[in-house]
Amino acid sequence: MAEVKTQKLDGYRRLIDIARDLASTLDLDILLSRIVHAAAEISGAEAASILLYDDTSRQLYFQVATNMDESTRRGIVVPLEGSIAGWIVSNRKTVRITNAHNDPRFFSSVEQTTGFSTKSILGIPLVTKNKIVGVLEALNKPRGNFTDTDESMLLVLGAQAAVAIENARLFQQSDLISEFVHELRTPLSSLSTATYLLMRPEISQEQRDQIVNNIHSETMRLNSLASSFLDLARLESGRVQFRKTRFSVADLLYECKDAIASKALEGNIQIRVEPPEGMPLLDADRDKIKQVLLNLLSNAVKYNRPNGTVMMRAELTEKEMVLIVQDTGLGIPDEALPHLFEKFFRVREHEGRASGTGLGLSICKQIVNGHGGRIEVKSKIGVGTVFSIFLPYANKTSPRAENGRKGAKQ
Ligand SMILES: Nc1ncnc2c1ncn2[C@@H]1O[C@H](COP(=O)(O)OP(=O)(O)O)[C@@H](O)[C@H]1O
Ligand SMILES: [Mg+2]
Repeated sequence: MAEVKTQKLDGYRRLIDIARDLASTLDLDILLSRIVHAAAEISGAEAASILLYDDTSRQLYFQVATNMDESTRRGIVVPLEGSIAGWIVSNRKTVRITNAHNDPRFFSSVEQTTGFSTKSILGIPLVTKNKIVGVLEALNKPRGNFTDTDESMLLVLGAQAAVAIENARLFQQSDLISEFVHELRTPLSSLSTATYLLMRPEISQEQRDQIVNNIHSETMRLNSLASSFLDLARLESGRVQFRKTRFSVADLLYECKDAIASKALEGNIQIRVEPPEGMPLLDADRDKIKQVLLNLLSNAVKYNRPNGTVMMRAELTEKEMVLIVQDTGLGIPDEALPHLFEKFFRVREHEGRASGTGLGLSICKQIVNGHGGRIEVKSKIGVGTVFSIFLPYANKTSPRAENGRKGAKQ
């Protein structure tokens, strides 16, 4: 009995440390990972996971789990109807189950994706004073069942976690929105100047045409700013679903080359694809990976020199597939490299040369990270830049040669 009491006390002491730890971060990914590890620890569970609730789509999104890598768990949607987590959200009640498989609410398709076998579950709703944020679940108690103490500790953790998640999300949004509004100012002010000038009777037809051209390119830029901003906001909030399929990388590289061809032609830039040989199919969200490659390619063309080249290739390491976009362009100064993937960051020296939003690389990073991968850059001023995307490659199936356009004219 005394032992149980000490255990409980230690647990609560630990909770206070955890609370401090949670309050100290506004980075959502780091925060969620701290929460699940703390949840598993204090409830003595084999694993723990968090599902976040999106009240617009009324769906739950699997976010983090102690026992799964990022690429597996991201994008799993759990329905409100027919899942234990959904029941917790709808009823705002705690659930304690000894054998999940005997429970009619159990949603087994997560298991099929993750390969984890759930036995006991202790699940609690994550609620702040005005809304439900998601569900925290402790999974599999190795000896015996989850106890009342486990439940009350998890509830205390859950209350802190919900507030911390809400704070991190609000911070993220306000940060992004204020930067966005700031970015709107420049194009808006040039649009207003342009329209003012158009109203002046003394300007020539030639000047008029030039101003109209200006308005056209500014509105195009605003348009792409708006869609990039939306993309990024969705990715940052963790609400993007990655729809994985297995596809040929060679085909995708050629498709991207074709998509960018006319832009490349304008600068007389040659795009070459080195056809990857014997590459296995890649298991990823094809549209999203295409978006990343197109972003990198359009940068490689935009920040190139006249008559330059861009090369795309793919390589395979033991665990990863690497997609590489290399150019013979301007290069990036060393001091800019650490900031390259920050929102709205553009190299000052490049600003006059090409129009852009500075969001492209942030989007690339979010997508690649969301696949459990990483993106790296190497650059030399006046020589060129190499971007490499490393994507985890599950060696589940035997490599299969691609029947892409091998040897096709580049
Ligand atoms: N291949 C490249 N060569 C040189 N500079 C690059 C390259 N790719 C990106 N950059 C620099 O990084 C900045 C951020 O890129 P990005 O986020 O795609 O924004 P944008 O293309 O809208 O300017 C660019 O403004 C540019 O200065
Ligand atoms: Mg770009």
